[in-house]
Amino acid sequence: MIDLRSDTVTTPTAEMRKVMADAKVGDDVFGEDPTVNALEKKIAKMFGFEAGLFTPSGTMANQLAVNMLTDQGDEVLIEETGHIFNYESTAASHLSSVLLRPLKGQKGKLSADLLKDTVRGQKEWEPQTRVIALENSTNKGGGCCYTEQELAAISSFATQNELGIHLDGARIWNAMTATNTAPSFYSRIADTMSVCFSKGLGAPVGSMLLSSQENITGARRMRKMWGGGMRQIGLLAAAADYAIEHHLSKLKEDHRRARELAETVSQCSQLSIDLESVETNILIFDVNGMPAEQAVELLAEEGIKVVPFGPQTLRATFHFQIDDEDLQRVKGAFYSIFN
Ligand SMILES: Cc1ncc(COP(=O)(O)O)c(C=O)c1O
Repeated sequence: MIDLRSDTVTTPTAEMRKVMADAKVGDDVFGEDPTVNALEKKIAKMFGFEAGLFTPSGTMANQLAVNMLTDQGDEVLIEETGHIFNYESTAASHLSSVLLRPLKGQKGKLSADLLKDTVRGQKEWEPQTRVIALENSTNKGGGCCYTEQELAAISSFATQNELGIHLDGARIWNAMTATNTAPSFYSRIADTMSVCFSKGLGAPVGSMLLSSQENITGARRMRKMWGGGMRQIGLLAAAADYAIEHHLSKLKEDHRRARELAETVSQCSQLSIDLESVETNILIFDVNGMPAEQAVELLAEEGIKVVPFGPQTLRATFHFQIDDEDLQRVKGAFYSIFN
């Protein structure tokens, strides 16, 4: 099977398993796992934040960020396709008692223009807007990325309005690669940022929250409260570190393959795609004349897995375990099924 459903479906390579087996470990609840401590320091330094906290999932890192940046009854502005709004099981209202206010942006992105006039809280009956939650690259927005200028404009809007910024960087690695942005740029525009090692980087588990030392100390306490205090997780941190060292540089190949498939899609009479929207490893495209589920089945018969992303919409995602030979097979199947 060629599995293009998500970049989360990768399995640890033999080399990654070896570094996991050899990792030095200790009890991380006591702060004694040397491999986790080293990874937290390394990633915080890489992105220019004071500190980092390893979490079992991107969802937990995002929710800890929301919790650190808000009080009960506050409002968080988010693009309507955002992961925190759509795919985290109402955690923000449940765990932090805040209102997520979805705004319609473009390709999953907000803009300083769009945010104008959205801030409220002057009147006691209004929610108090406190945070802007951004996603980069966007997942449901098709893997699109913010430019540095767009982020800088949102950041100065946030400063003027005394709002915090959380950046969901589950795929910040892809965004950095596509836009050639230095990692330290992100700490200049965001108060908190989550990153995931288990998406395109290919680690089996693990994410990290990055922020000030004060926020990370608070998040560490909250992570324990939410049941996320873990013990000998140096095994996982070693896999994450291996992924950074060996897989980060492969992302540009995923982006090239995604673009090549997007061009094939644009040549298929029963498919349509906005080629400009394909900036990283994700392609979202429409099927004309048949339901998405039927297209998924036809591709599955050819040994290709994709996910339905709407009644007539599909998503395909590239990762380092899809090579050029797989890509040629996928392109051939697309031409024969959808023309
Ligand atoms: C943009 C984005 N943020 C957060 C997450 C959550 O990550 P996890 O599945 O590790 O909770 C995902 C998962 O796919 C994602 O795509």
